Amino acid sequence: MLTRRAFATSTLAGLIGAAGLRAQPDDANYDEAKVPAYTLPPLLHLADGRVVTDRAGWVARRAELLDLFARHMYGRTPAGLPDGAVVPVDTPVPVLGGRALRQQCRLDWQGRASMDVLVYRPAHGRPVPVFIGLNYFGNHAVDPDPAIRLSTRWMRTNDANGVVNHRATERARGTMARRWPVDLIIEQDCAVMTAYYGDLAPDDPSVVRQGMAPLADGLEGDIPTAERWGTIGMWAWGLSQMRRAVATMPGLDARRAIVIGHSRLGKAALWAGAQDEAFAMVVSNDSGCAGAALSRRAYGETIGRITRSFPHWFCPTLASWAGREAAMPIDQHQLLALVAPRVLHVGSAVEDRWADPKGEFLATLAADEAWRLLRQRGLGGTAMPAVEQSVGDRVRYHLRTGGHDITRDDWAQYLATAKAQLS
Ligand code: GCU
Repeated sequence: MLTRRAFATSTLAGLIGAAGLRAQPDDANYDEAKVPAYTLPPLLHLADGRVVTDRAGWVARRAELLDLFARHMYGRTPAGLPDGAVVPVDTPVPVLGGRALRQQCRLDWQGRASMDVLVYRPAHGRPVPVFIGLNYFGNHAVDPDPAIRLSTRWMRTNDANGVVNHRATERARGTMARRWPVDLIIEQDCAVMTAYYGDLAPDDPSVVRQGMAPLADGLEGDIPTAERWGTIGMWAWGLSQMRRAVATMPGLDARRAIVIGHSRLGKAALWAGAQDEAFAMVVSNDSGCAGAALSRRAYGETIGRITRSFPHWFCPTLASWAGREAAMPIDQHQLLALVAPRVLHVGSAVEDRWADPKGEFLATLAADEAWRLLRQRGLGGTAMPAVEQSVGDRVRYHLRTGGHDITRDDWAQYLATAKAQLS
């Protein structure tokens, strides 16, 4: 298992080096006693002060909150983006001893952008819940099978993962397989659909236009520059495009689409799930700052640090809140609440202090109010569960031992939630 520091030095070396910053500065606060006293912005008060007491009120509040997160954090998703066409790349191939079928297709946007999509589903063909998630190193890194298309796109150079001069090599095959336990997913009678996040937006400001960004040209005229989206918005949009593609594929249940993401892609999964109510379940794994963790705690990564290290992820306005978390009109419990009354699962890891596991739990706990309002069984109790325990029903939280990663154990948790809540 990679520790967060090992991950930071291997995966992020290029980016951090380029920015002249380290992902985990020594001056970050890891002392609970130094967490500032704070009051969370209200979840169930409309901007005009009225208290939300019913479903209609929640619909109005939901619209306000979506607007606030677009304005202050992720930027506005341009209206009028084209929907992708699903182009099959191969015919389904039996894998895992015939228990599963693997299929590759391409999402194509008017020949102006495209994304390679990889799907594994049970061979029996009955529609099953499908986990939809982006990956960091290309579909070929998910499974060593040489029939999987090797990505030709820009990628962060990483010799250990077979990425040389920003391109994947044959050595890259299967290098991230441990993060995609396809056998377990199939065994639990679910499917998984994944694609390389760099197909949508390369994770580097200097090459970001190699993805789908040009599709938004001419569509952002009415959006103030300070509110223009960053790559998290683009990744989230791509996740919804994948969700739309599910409807065209056999053996996948479009009503049980689950958006999942780890770390920065966990932030993207939350933003996708907040905006797109057709996702029946939303999974955040170690998403941390600007993901599931409360910004006001300023524990581990802060708004100041994240906007200096990764400005291209967000709209420019977010940087103006650096060091002023207490004054922000939003906090992350409100983002989590945008999933209500659907299913939400937040997973943290004990050693992943940079992502503030306690802040992730407290955001989940505060978000639970929305499920109560909508008369759904949410998180239930109020105590942070012990390590390796999980709590809740339609709102679920678990804390794993170890560091920053998405492991087979995390997947087992998410699969159990899907089984219990989406049948
Ligand atoms: C960095 C960053 C985090 C992010 C993480 C990741 O550590 O500071 O905000 O979640 O990278 O994506 O792994």
